Amino acid sequence: MHVIMVKKRLLNGEACPKCAEAEALLRARGLWSRIDEVVWAEEGDPQSRGMKLAVEYGIPLAPFFIVEDEGSGPRTFTSTLLFVKAMLGSEVSGNPSAPATALTAEEILQLALEFEAAPPERTVKWLLERFGSAVAVAFSGAEDVALIDIAVKSGAPFSVFTLDTGRLHPETYRFIEKVRAHFGVTIEMMSPQLEPLQAMVRKKGLFSFYEDGHGECCGIRKLEPLRRALGRQQAWITGQRRDQSPTRADVPVLQRDTHQGLSGPVLKLNPLAAWSLQKVWSYIRANDVPYNALHEQGYVSIGCEPCTRVPRPGEHERAGRWWWEEATKRECGLHT
Ligand code: ADX
Ligand code: SF4
Repeated sequence: MHVIMVKKRLLNGEACPKCAEAEALLRARGLWSRIDEVVWAEEGDPQSRGMKLAVEYGIPLAPFFIVEDEGSGPRTFTSTLLFVKAMLGSEVSGNPSAPATALTAEEILQLALEFEAAPPERTVKWLLERFGSAVAVAFSGAEDVALIDIAVKSGAPFSVFTLDTGRLHPETYRFIEKVRAHFGVTIEMMSPQLEPLQAMVRKKGLFSFYEDGHGECCGIRKLEPLRRALGRQQAWITGQRRDQSPTRADVPVLQRDTHQGLSGPVLKLNPLAAWSLQKVWSYIRANDVPYNALHEQGYVSIGCEPCTRVPRPGEHERAGRWWWEEATKRECGLHT
């Protein structure tokens, strides 16, 4: 897609007021980056390129927009509002060379709004096309396997990592191997650093989290390896969903992640944010995606073995995670 905005330049050298207003609107809606080319129609100069385009398309007034799509003829918009509507409803074009930090907070917010009703296939494709292989899927070894299926089907390159805490269930390790073979993807197993791990275990044993909370152990086994995994990436994709817990009720589809210890911010895409657990399972079944055998034993949300149990009837899916702690503390820090 190639988008041209034709603006009129008045004899005094300034853009016509309507053209300035249109630009301000596009910037406010995060769409300015979608304009590939600004062409000027110079007042009093019929030979200027913008004037010639106006004649060619039979449009008497600037500003106007010409959208050239591959495979179909050019579309023109004389109304900025109609142009905005069309752009919000269409695929967002990619720019593989742009770093994640090039997006302003406002643009990220606007994209998050655009993506709210978009299927995960579209948002994942957008991210992978935009940032190429500098995007990693964070795969926990549970139902977020749907993300790998979606990413593989996009046809774009990406990487996958799992935070190998050393405390995952044997079923999860077997499942990770199954996923590796099924999709033919490399799964980077991120191990904790030896020294702090050994020091903690030497001092406190293997189950200190039951006594003094999961913070320290998750810090060593998950957060530090996460920072290392993200250090190489522009963006990551997670399986967070709003229906997982009240702590995730506001998860946006796209956000800027400023995890402590990162050299700079990375983008975080949560393509399943608006999906229910049921919808994830419908996807897994409809697409014949392999799943962790623990689900057949009643496990829903799956983390480390000592910190995960099967939820009781009527309990929420994350009630089985760190069940001995207060519900508001049931986040390990990956997403806070
Ligand atoms: S957690 O923060 O409580 O552990 P949860 O299990 O709900 O998170 O998973 C949410 C998302 O976080 C997963 O879909 C995945 O993207 C990421 N995630 C969680 N645990 C891991 C892990 N061990 N390795 C990689 N990603 C993980
Ligand atoms: Fe440690 Fe439990 Fe956190 Fe796993 S979930 S890293 S075992 S505290």
